[in-house]
Amino acid sequence: MRLLITGGAGFIGSAFVRLVLSERPDWQVANLDLLTYAGNLENLETVEGHPHHRFVRGDIANRALVESLFPVDAVVNFAAESHVDRSIQDPERFLATNVLGTHALLDAARQKGLSRFVQVSTDEVYGSIEKGLFTEDSPLAPRSPYSASKAAADHLCLAYHHTYGLPVLITRSSNNYGPYQFPEKLIPLLVTNALEGKDLPLYGDGENVRDWLFVEDNCRGVLAALERGRPGGVYNLGGGAQRTNREVAEAVRRLVGGPSRVVLIPDRPGHDRRYALDCRHARRELGWRPTTDFEAGLAATVAWYREHRAWWERVKSGEYRRYYEAHYGPALAAGSPA
Ligand code: NAD
Ligand code: TYD
Repeated sequence: MRLLITGGAGFIGSAFVRLVLSERPDWQVANLDLLTYAGNLENLETVEGHPHHRFVRGDIANRALVESLFPVDAVVNFAAESHVDRSIQDPERFLATNVLGTHALLDAARQKGLSRFVQVSTDEVYGSIEKGLFTEDSPLAPRSPYSASKAAADHLCLAYHHTYGLPVLITRSSNNYGPYQFPEKLIPLLVTNALEGKDLPLYGDGENVRDWLFVEDNCRGVLAALERGRPGGVYNLGGGAQRTNREVAEAVRRLVGGPSRVVLIPDRPGHDRRYALDCRHARRELGWRPTTDFEAGLAATVAWYREHRAWWERVKSGEYRRYYEAHYGPALAAGSPA
């Protein structure tokens, strides 16, 4: 298997690279990543020098570069602008990578040929659901620039399957957490702030619900879709662990200890209230289900951030510090302890 993985220096992509290199020892992996603020070669330290891994720095929207990486048997597309708050501040980059970049990959795949194209998508394409669960047949109703760009990419993928017969598969996972996650996302933000004794900012009333999935469980679902999925198939991959943000923050506070307080800050514009997935299709067709219980996964994640302080202190310096100050500084100063 010659595999082209994109976004493999990010959080989930790097976990997938590590999983494939350790469990599929005869596969060859080319890893295309632009190394944006979210990409970090330190995430690939444990596979540095691996004879079956080749890192290529570049943009998935660069068609000539993408074509130069063929022939491959399969593409797994993790590369994306991935943070909702940044998409609210500056949507354009999200369209460039998530829509046009995905299109460049699809069209290169159509021209060059391959046997599988896995698009890594998100439950956010379905929009928000007050009660019940989204199935793969639920209509797409994205509500943030991020989720709109991911939904556009999903539509393009299915259109390429329908029109050109490209063997595309889509996974839609719920919120991931685990080692190496960039601390702009909720769980690593809470954990690293708590380790620094800083306040824990929650938007609005803190009662929004997410369904948490340990990153390795997601990677095993993506691998199952790649190996056993049906072309044209869409697979929901949920953690089965619905928690309010307040419950997550309190769990982090208990695990880390120290003086941090939960502080409610003004809500995110258009903040989706609840995501929840029905994953019976992935269970039936792929034999996939999540195996990491949320409390155990969160404890392992906190332990990882405790042991990898140098990693996140470097990540939290520079660009991140400016982002954090601008995004949270005034809000935290005016926020109220929960
Ligand atoms: P991330 O932000 O940690 O990593 C994204 C990676 O893509 C980075 O390494 C970045 O350098 C790279 N990248 C960005 N633009 C690029 C471009 N134009 N060309 C090449 N590389 C580029 O994101 P993540 O959390 O690892 O998410 C990976 C994928 O999973 C994304 O497609 C995201 O939409 C999806 N997803 C994430 C979650 C989650 O909870 N994190 C949940 C569901 C789906
Ligand atoms: P996030 O990690 O940004 O993922 P997504 O928006 O893609 O689900 O946020 C998860 C939840 O946590 C979401 O309801 C927004 C909330 N949140 C906060 O309350 N405070 C924060 O500082 C962040 C980053 C998120």
